[in-house]
Amino acid sequence: MSRRTPVPAAALLLLLASGCAGSLTREEVYDPASCGECHQEHLDQWQASMHAYAGDDPVFLAMNRRGQEETNGELGAFCVNCHAPLAVQLGEVVDGLELEDPDFPQYLKGVTCAFCHLAAHADGDSNNPIELDPRTVLKGPFDDPTRSPAHRAEYSPLLDRSQRDSAQLCGSCHDIVLDNGVHLEQTFAEWNDTVFSEDATLTTCGNCHMFSVGPPDARENRNPRPVATFDGVPARDFHDHRMAAIDVAVSPWFDEADQREQVESLLKSTVRSQICVNPLPGGFQLMVGLENVSAGHSFPSGASQDRRVWAHLRAEDAQGVIWERGLVPEGTPAVDVAQGILLRDHLAGADGEEVHMFWEVASIERDVLPGIRQFGLEETRIWTFEDVQGRQPTSVTLALYERPVGLDVLDDLIGSGHLDPSIRDAVPTLELSGAALTWSGALGSCASSDAL
Ligand code: HEC
Ligand code: HEC
Ligand code: HEC
Ligand code: HEC
Ligand code: HEC
Repeated sequence: MSRRTPVPAAALLLLLASGCAGSLTREEVYDPASCGECHQEHLDQWQASMHAYAGDDPVFLAMNRRGQEETNGELGAFCVNCHAPLAVQLGEVVDGLELEDPDFPQYLKGVTCAFCHLAAHADGDSNNPIELDPRTVLKGPFDDPTRSPAHRAEYSPLLDRSQRDSAQLCGSCHDIVLDNGVHLEQTFAEWNDTVFSEDATLTTCGNCHMFSVGPPDARENRNPRPVATFDGVPARDFHDHRMAAIDVAVSPWFDEADQREQVESLLKSTVRSQICVNPLPGGFQLMVGLENVSAGHSFPSGASQDRRVWAHLRAEDAQGVIWERGLVPEGTPAVDVAQGILLRDHLAGADGEEVHMFWEVASIERDVLPGIRQFGLEETRIWTFEDVQGRQPTSVTLALYERPVGLDVLDDLIGSGHLDPSIRDAVPTLELSGAALTWSGALGSCASSDAL
């Protein structure tokens, strides 16, 4: 983090006297390190988040570098506009290659405190249309902030997770439309299509992604405490800034163990599974159902072209394994499970062949679990398999896994010489333990997991 530049005493007096600014200079307001003095817990949590990591993520840097080379620079600031947005708005980067310079200031990398808390408008649904307030007044959820000498503060619905506008702030950056119209990443559009975006059941991104792991009432943050270490600050609801979901740091970063725990905890209860086994002449029919029960959008979501979610299915009888799909050995790409269940989006180039990189994309084929459109009418996707080799199972097991980014995507980047091969080993294979299920009933019966 950059050093704080001392504020000349005269200027400080002038600012305080005019009552229109805090003691933090504009540069300091941009620097997360300056917030730690009074908001240490927010700083620690943010530091360990993917928002802080977004401009250091080696997979991002490798993809962006390859994109600049392969498009002769036409990609420009497209990627870095979301991964280091403050640096773009301040004109400090033009294509994001600057981020790889060891002297590039750390405080401009990632989605920083100031970028969210100075947001004045988000007029658009994708590609980060967010405009910042030219004044350095930090916006937050409180309409009665305690006066602090450090900075001015004011309420904004963009930063109040009980308001729809807050979903616009997150969503307009979590949704990507390419120049050719392909709607590549759709988290916001998906959310807009679920029951969570309706007035009566409004549940914003922050409602689900800004609470700590813990008992159900932790969701409501019923643990009020001061949110700034400063005299006279009342106890208020504290909001978790780790915002973990599926990606984890793949190079040394802050508190990786905690990040991994947060991810596993959220992921655990996301999908419910069901297995039905029916007799067939000379064999059996297996029906597997998967249902997204807690994500406020599709599952997987966002970079679903890079995600790999697959089921390992195995039917056995007393003699051993009869039938198996989706066994993916550690370190092997999950590409050969097409005969089983693989959830991901598929990208194709102009010639219809599969591609992995944004700038090669001509079309997208979606293959994910939809979000909940109406309570009570949840959609279960069903896959049917038949086996008529004469044996009937006594047990069928299902285990569901996700890799945040497919090893086939990484191999593509390693193969082109853009990514350090050691990163491959750092990408975890996570199990959705709440979806794990064993059927061992009579033929013609079903079993289901109780994900929640
Ligand atoms: C010298 C202490 C101090 C420093 C340094 C500081 N703050 Fe604050 N901040 C406060 C106080 C005091 C409040 C009011 C808290 C309250 O009323 O509960 C506050 C409130 C906030 C709020 C909520 C405002 C609202 O109206 O909802 C945000 C957002 C915020 N600070 C962000 C930051 C950021 C970002 C930084 C770093 C650039 C920072 N603060 C640095 C003391 C500080
Ligand atoms: C991705 C956007 C985002 C980033 C980055 C971010 N915040 Fe926040 N922050 C929010 C939102 C949204 C809320 C309001 C949650 C609510 O009350 O509805 C919030 C709330 C706050 C509050 C009010 C107290 C609370 O817990 O609700 C403070 C203080 C704060 N943030 C400080 C920071 C600091 C310091 C950083 C950087 C170290 C930071 N934030 C980074 C989005 C962000
Ligand atoms: C300026 C754009 C921007 C804004 C605004 C923004 N995000 Fe993000 N968010 C990102 C980027 C970029 C990443 C991931 C970086 C990476 O993986 O390299 C990310 C990561 C995340 C992740 C982790 C995703 C994963 O795959 O694990 C969650 C959850 C998340 N954001 C939620 C939110 C919420 C909630 C808000 C609003 C309070 C928000 N974001 C606002 C750009 C943004
Ligand atoms: C009803 C709760 C809920 C709401 C609302 C919600 N999410 Fe999520 N989100 C989840 C769950 C659960 C997961 C999946 C578990 C995981 O990835 O660990 C998830 C996953 C994600 C991911 C990672 C994608 C993946 O493949 O798992 C991102 C990014 C994300 N959410 C962003 C957002 C944004 C942006 C919004 C608002 C537009 C939002 N979420 C609204 C619950 C929610
Ligand atoms: C509109 C904002 C936006 C743009 C533009 C954008 N990203 Fe991202 N990126 C995100 C968000 C948000 C995430 C968080 C995870 C998710 O949504 O799945 C992310 C995650 C990632 C990740 C980590 C997850 C994964 O897929 O491995 C990589 C790598 C990445 N982006 C690379 C890029 C590259 C390269 C470009 C440009 C070709 C780009 N991004 C353009 C917002 C953006």
